[in-house]
Amino acid sequence: MCGIVGTVGKENASAILLEGLRRLEYRGYDSAGLATIVDGKIERRRAEGKLDCLADLLIKQPLPGTIGIGHTRWATHGRPTEANAHPHATDLVAVVHNGIIENYRELREELESKGCVFTSETDTETIAHLISDFLRHGMTPQQATAAALKRLVGAFAIGVLFTGHSGLLIGARRGSPLALGYGKGEMYLGSDALALAPQTNKIAYLEEGDWAELYADKIVIHDETDKVVSRKIITTTLSEAATGKGQYRHYMLKEIFEQPTVIGDTLESLALPSGLAVPTLPFNWKAVPRVTIIACGTASYAGLVAKYWFEQLAKLPAEIDIASEFRYREAPMPLGGVTIVVSQSGETADTLAALRYAKAQGQKILSVVNVPQSSIARASDAVVPTLAGPEIGVASTKAYTTQLTVLLCLALDAARARGTLTNDRINEILRALREVPAQINAILRDEHRIQELAQKIRKAHDVLYLGRGLLYPIAMEGALKLKEVSYIHAEGYPAGEMKHGPIALVDKELPVVFLAPSDALFEKTASNIQEVIARGGKVILFSDKEGIEQTGAKTFMNIALPKADPTVTPLLYVVPLQLLAYYTALAKGTDVDQPRNLAKSVTVE
Ligand code: M6R
Repeated sequence: MCGIVGTVGKENASAILLEGLRRLEYRGYDSAGLATIVDGKIERRRAEGKLDCLADLLIKQPLPGTIGIGHTRWATHGRPTEANAHPHATDLVAVVHNGIIENYRELREELESKGCVFTSETDTETIAHLISDFLRHGMTPQQATAAALKRLVGAFAIGVLFTGHSGLLIGARRGSPLALGYGKGEMYLGSDALALAPQTNKIAYLEEGDWAELYADKIVIHDETDKVVSRKIITTTLSEAATGKGQYRHYMLKEIFEQPTVIGDTLESLALPSGLAVPTLPFNWKAVPRVTIIACGTASYAGLVAKYWFEQLAKLPAEIDIASEFRYREAPMPLGGVTIVVSQSGETADTLAALRYAKAQGQKILSVVNVPQSSIARASDAVVPTLAGPEIGVASTKAYTTQLTVLLCLALDAARARGTLTNDRINEILRALREVPAQINAILRDEHRIQELAQKIRKAHDVLYLGRGLLYPIAMEGALKLKEVSYIHAEGYPAGEMKHGPIALVDKELPVVFLAPSDALFEKTASNIQEVIARGGKVILFSDKEGIEQTGAKTFMNIALPKADPTVTPLLYVVPLQLLAYYTALAKGTDVDQPRNLAKSVTVE
């Protein structure tokens, strides 16, 4: 949940580390800090709050040194204060850490009984004291780190500096990702390749249990048994255009506007002009008794749409479960079942744990991830990537619509294999999917309507989002987006469920967003619209021209969207809701790309 970076070489370490942290700030922004080695001693600068606070501190108190580690924090153990900010240090080592040390209480008690004095509330400080304890017993930095790693329970990626060693940096991973960067006379480590992109595109990923010694001219990698191993060095293609904000004020807006392109790219990877081209999967859809989809947050709403698609198109029983519930539910899973794991980052701790549970139950794991080198991708039997490119805004947008694109292609693949749809119908849906990028462009061109709406709802305390069928998950996603970036309380509900409770909330202040394309369920939703209007609620109707004309109701505002094949409407209807959340947040002046308390990649339970 935090971001870590490290460098050893010849240039000023602080500048490299600060730039790396800027690229990792999406992972957490409660506090930040750096440590380097100056004249053989560890020097630190730490600041509460966003990275800019640390940057200001570094102007006042520059940090020299050509070796260093850095950290941007999303607080888990201990408040977001300077004392709890990483790096944590003793007189012998400094440590940055992403993850959670589960046995830190026992370790802390043991170390305190030996006289170690702790200065923070964090679990990380135990790592610093533990390594120092082994060093005091005469071990080398390498031996002490390897010995400490064996005592740690939990998930972590760490970077460690040692007093008196200005040419050695050690990194290790278990459960949390760690990338190594190979430069010329300089080596780096970081939570992802994005952090290292300004320095190098030659990257190796540590595998589970690995640890590495980084020197200016070489990296030596060890596996969990301490044996020296080699890991493949790949050349990444991350460009500045993919990682910068371009002409946009915020990443979230840039990423919303990238959707036509990335949906098109993703679709092209799965469908040729002649038809569906999903890669061969390590199972036969015909023999699959049930699909279980697991994910968190926005990815789980993509999974919920997919459940409807698998059931409707492929007549394949499908369940969707929130990963944090599924992993502890001890759910029985059918023999020969397939589990689809959906995740942008591919590092979400709950999703990864649920994947492992499903694997242990003998399920084939198919993951839909945006980071192909991620832990989830690597633990899967097959991966179908979303080609969204780096998503930096904390609120997920383009990852979501590319997840929908992949999941619809998978459901169509299953339908073809199971003979539940004709080729003509499959091609018709693919044609509708190919229209989506142009239709989204049309929605984006009309964004002034959404800006108007944002001005009207910005003072609301609550907003209700309602939809039926495939638009029910979109109602949930729309509500989540609004909550995340504008801090307005919002609920997504199946429209038919409104009368069973939420209708009690309706009064003349409550904006009620209806997602109602003119499809087979339209008449039912139209009745719900009347029920809200009859009680004085403010109805905001998102529909196509036909639907808007058909309701004839006195709505507060109508937003006309393109008419499309009902199967692909989730991809269209979510886009104006993303814009609505964005412009409402802008009107309220919240921090759109880094909303309070959130982090992009949730690598803790
Ligand atoms: O990286 P993942 O897709 O696994 O992340 C899952 C959720 O944490 C994520 O979708 C979260 O809900 C986003 N902030 C939503 O905008």
